[in-house]
Formats: sequence, C-alpha cells, structure tokens
Amino acid sequence: MTDNVVPAVINVDLEGPRISRHVYGHFAEHLGRCIYGGFYVGEDSDIPNEGGIRLDVVEALRALDIPNLRWPGGCFADEYHWKDGIGPKEDRPVMVNTHWGNVEENNHFGTHEFMALCELLGTEPYISGNVGSGTVAEMSDWVEYLTRGGDSPMVRLRKANGREEPWKVKYWGLGNETWGCGGNMTAEHYANEARRYATYCRDHGDNKLYRIAAGASDFDYHWTEALMKQLSHLGCQRVERPLYQAISVHYYTFAGTWEDKGAATVFDTDQYYTTLAKAARIDELLTGHANVMDLYDPRKEIGIVLDEWGTWWNVEPGTNPGFLYQQNTMRDALVAGVHFDAFHRHADRLHMANIAQTVNVLQSMILTDPDTGAMVTTPTYHVFAMNRGHQDAAGLRVDTPEGLPSREVDGGELSTVSVSASRKNGRLLVSLSNLDVEKSVDVELDLRGGTVGEVTSQILTAEAPQAHNTPETPEAVAPREHDGVTATGKGLRVRLPAHSFVTVEGRLA
Ligand code: AHR
Repeated sequence: MTDNVVPAVINVDLEGPRISRHVYGHFAEHLGRCIYGGFYVGEDSDIPNEGGIRLDVVEALRALDIPNLRWPGGCFADEYHWKDGIGPKEDRPVMVNTHWGNVEENNHFGTHEFMALCELLGTEPYISGNVGSGTVAEMSDWVEYLTRGGDSPMVRLRKANGREEPWKVKYWGLGNETWGCGGNMTAEHYANEARRYATYCRDHGDNKLYRIAAGASDFDYHWTEALMKQLSHLGCQRVERPLYQAISVHYYTFAGTWEDKGAATVFDTDQYYTTLAKAARIDELLTGHANVMDLYDPRKEIGIVLDEWGTWWNVEPGTNPGFLYQQNTMRDALVAGVHFDAFHRHADRLHMANIAQTVNVLQSMILTDPDTGAMVTTPTYHVFAMNRGHQDAAGLRVDTPEGLPSREVDGGELSTVSVSASRKNGRLLVSLSNLDVEKSVDVELDLRGGTVGEVTSQILTAEAPQAHNTPETPEAVAPREHDGVTATGKGLRVRLPAHSFVTVEGRLA
C-alpha cells in the first residue's frame, strides 16, 4: 500500500442490517445547565421560549432530526420522584441534587414539560425510571400516568393537571448504573430487580413499552451475561415477550484518568491520539457485549442500548465541578465520527445510542452562555448533522483489502482512517474520518454493483484539532463544501485532509 492511498470496496447493492435512527439519540439530565438554562429558561425569560422551553435550542436540534431524548438522568434519575414534578409549579417541592453540585432543584421542569419538549423537538421520549431510591409502585404509577387511557387513579391525576389524552411512550429505562450511583448492586441482585420492575411497568392499551435493563460499565461482560441469564428464566409467569427488550451499556472517552481526564481544548499530540484510540475501542466493546448476548439470544432479539457515550473532560476553569461543563473541539468531532462508524457496523445488535449530553454538559451539541444567553453549536453537532442520512438506512459493508493506515498508540494500533456507508431511498452516503493529525490521505472508493452520480461532499476540519466554537467565533469549526472528490473508473477518490471528517453523498443507479 502506498503511503497515502487507501482502497475501500463497497458493494452498493448488498444491503446489510438497517441502521436504527435511534443510534443518533440524545440524553438530557438534571445536571448543571443542561435542563435549566439549556433547554428550559422559564416562561418569564427574555429568551424566546414556549412554555419556558428555549426556541433557539429547539430549532437547532430539529435540524438534526433527533430520534429520541433520554431523561431525567443519569444518576439523577435514581433520586428523582416524578410526583414532585407535576401540578402547579409553586406547589412543587424543592430537593437537593446530591449528585450534581448539591444545588437545589425546584422541580419546575417535570413530566409535562419534558413531554412538551419532546413534542416541540418531534422526538420520542425515553424515560429513565428510579430503581435506586424509588419503589416499584412509584414506577408503575408513572407508566400509568403517562400512557393509560380511560379512567384510573393516575389518569384522573393527569387530567387534573391538564392533560386529557395519554402520551405515547415506548422507551423505558429500569434504573441507571445500578452497579454504582443507581444503588451499588451486584449484577445478580440487579438482574432480579430488573425482572421485578419490568413486571409492573405495564403495557396500557396499545402503548407497548420497550424496557431497557440498566447495563454494564465499559467492558464488564459479566454484567451483561447476568442480565441475559435472568432473561431466559421466565419462572411460572406466562410471558409473551421477554421481560426487557434491551440491555444498556455506558462508555466514556477521555485522555487521562477518572481523576484527571485532561482538558477539552488544551491537549498535545499524544493526548489527541490517546483519545482517539480510546474512542476506537467502542468497536471492541460492542463486539464483546454482542458476543455474550449471542450465546443466549442467537436470533438477536434483545438490543444493546449504549445510552451514555462521548467525551468526558475536566470542567472548564472557573465553572462548577459538579456541572460537567466542557468545550468541544475538532477532536470531539472525530470521536463522534469514529463512534458512528462502529454503530453502523453493529446495526444488527445496537438498537439505540445516546450521546451524553445534548446541551451544556459533557460532549454537547449546543453550548449556551450563562450570562448573555448566546447559543453556539459545537463541532460534534455538525457530525450529527452531516451523518443524518444514515438514520434508518441500510448499512453497507466497507472492505479495505490492503488494510488501513495505522500508528502505534499506547502499546496498541490505532487505524487512522475510519469509514462507513449506507444507502437509503436510492442514495449512497459514505462517512470518512482521517485521524492523522498532520498527514492527508486519499481513500479510493471502489463501488461495485451500481454507479453513483450527482455527487456532493461536505468537510468538517480546522487549522488545528484544538479548534472550537465560541459566541465570538461560532463558525470556527463548521462544515463546508468539499472539492476533494473526483470520479475514477471504479468509483470515487476522496481526499481527506489531516484531522478531518468528510461525507460523500450521491444518487445510485
Ligand atoms: O452523564 C453524566 C453521568 O455519567 C450520568 O449521570 C451517569 O449515569 C454517568 O456516570
């Protein structure tokens, strides 16, 4: 293989598993300024809003076609008591958010506000229930309150709070990180709890829940196995469907240790590559959990839900350490690109993924200024936008017969080019990342089983991987048209400058 040309073969007529749109899902926790100041400013704010929900944030997220939004946590979910967040705002009790900064939470953003947000965004709710400090009855009531029609105690309560019709809620989480902040349980103990909670989270009328058992941290395959084992023991109850439809897993990327994760915008070349090598391990992680699940569920009916992923850096200097506010650079964009390529490859088992978190927390799409209210979109936002066309598309396998360029990072090998492809409605979409910090590379796409025309291409890159957007320079990292694509006898040759993310789209014939 020459130094800078990578051949890649795509059979455009051989459709693989469908890439669920839900792998482009999101996450909003009562944490720092994600909800308050991010999504929700209250009705009296000068910032244009509907029912307190920021309309600029809604408009920006609508452009991403976000398929689902997970709420209210995270760790917060396991100390959230939903009945405190309904009814007149002035009567809602105040609590302390012990996980995130020990600040007071006034419960002004509750169930009705969240469902209104989902309606404005045109997205599906994913509610994460409280197993850690809640009760089965409390969770069961919440499902009834949200989804039951006709008449019942919870239906009467909902109607008294102004909502006649039930909502549709499909995605339901049975706790969060129950190995840690969600109750410090063992895998075996939680597997029983998951069955118990799942039993009482009823399907009301035609609302069919998709129950998600709280899964492992990182590479803890034992946790996944314990949950899969329990799923196959159905006891004496006649159960038509498995008690839960998916198992979650969480995976965060950072350059250092949990105690000192590294800074979001100040990093050297070694930290840059360490970050991308850690991001690339998402493929190994999904393969490992899927292999365990295959032993118990070879027909792949139970899904993996990666409901927290993304970069986690030290907080920005001068901000509350409990608020997890971080900037977002071109490096973060490449982390996202690498994750999405893996998500596309694992479309047969990965049903959903949720980036942590949508606004002002961890690897956000949107940052808002606490003083001026100004909003900027991040480099990661642009990757979500450029990859929109993969949602619900048929995955296409990408073969690289001569291998991928790579470099040694922390004792392992990091492939410095990442590619994935899909087709939908007669259109081909290819996403390509060049992780090499200084060298460009050409990828020669050998397209078999069809031809491609009307090709367009976009590129996201910047002078340096540290580049990021601020209210003063909101477009420092923004997509532009890419003129680095040329037709060849076999397909397309795509130029990838150093540290760049590129999409190529065309009509298939
Ligand atoms: O996303 C921030 C936190 O990370 C979540 O609350 C928790 O689930 C995880 O540890």
